[in-house]
Amino acid sequence: MKDKRNEREDLIPIFIMGKRYEVPSSLTIQKAMEYAGYQLIRGCGCRGGICGACGTVYRFPESYKIEVGLACQTVVQPNMYLTQIPFFPATKSVYDIEKVKATIETLVKAYPEVLRCLQCNTCTKSCPMEIEVMDYIAAAMRGDVVRLAELSFDCVMCGLCTARCPAEIGQYNVAILGRRLYGKYVAPRADHLATVVRDVEKGKFEQGLRELMDADEEALKKLYNEREIEPEQAEEDWTPREKTYL
Ligand code: SF4
Ligand code: SF4
Ligand code: FES
Repeated sequence: MKDKRNEREDLIPIFIMGKRYEVPSSLTIQKAMEYAGYQLIRGCGCRGGICGACGTVYRFPESYKIEVGLACQTVVQPNMYLTQIPFFPATKSVYDIEKVKATIETLVKAYPEVLRCLQCNTCTKSCPMEIEVMDYIAAAMRGDVVRLAELSFDCVMCGLCTARCPAEIGQYNVAILGRRLYGKYVAPRADHLATVVRDVEKGKFEQGLRELMDADEEALKKLYNEREIEPEQAEEDWTPREKTYL
């Protein structure tokens, strides 16, 4: 067991919005902020690197370099100066996805500023998800919806690229338009999805849902604990034993 002195040695200094705190060295930025007394009402969502709410910029005193990370995924380092940028304003075009086409005209009409890209690559260097942001903006400029959708697939919409773009492009909103166009007009239709939607509309799942809603807490716990879980190394054609709702 650690004695008090060792616990103390585990603490490192960090600076949150200019104020110095000592925090345990094993914490993520997010947990360190809470340890320091901040209550995260904004800039905190999934805590799992998915929602993009916790974009953070930081620097070290001896370096000019601006570093970026997601606060829920990045472990603190001694003397980091940091602040979270939970929201960065960006243009967001309104369009009716039913009435547009997967073309360069759609992309440029919605976001004409993509044509101002200077190809400086700052966005790519700012991305905590290591996405080739400049390349997906180049794809948007060419009207290449497929490449735009593919390259931006892991975007969590944290806004860090937008915060640093000298051409004032809101990259992540361009990317989501690209992925919507791809999903609507380019990707092959999933027949099994259409089948399930029809089943939902016909009420196939109503009875099961009703049973769940009427069950008490103990019954729900039992159902949850005894549910059949797909094995990690399942065959591709694996199906559960209980097939009522398949
Ligand atoms: S930061 Fe802006 S201008 Fe620079 S490459 Fe990225 S999108 Fe283009
Ligand atoms: S592309 Fe931009 S908004 Fe998306 S994850 Fe990277 S930095 Fe964040
Ligand atoms: S809280 Fe969701 S990505 Fe960090």
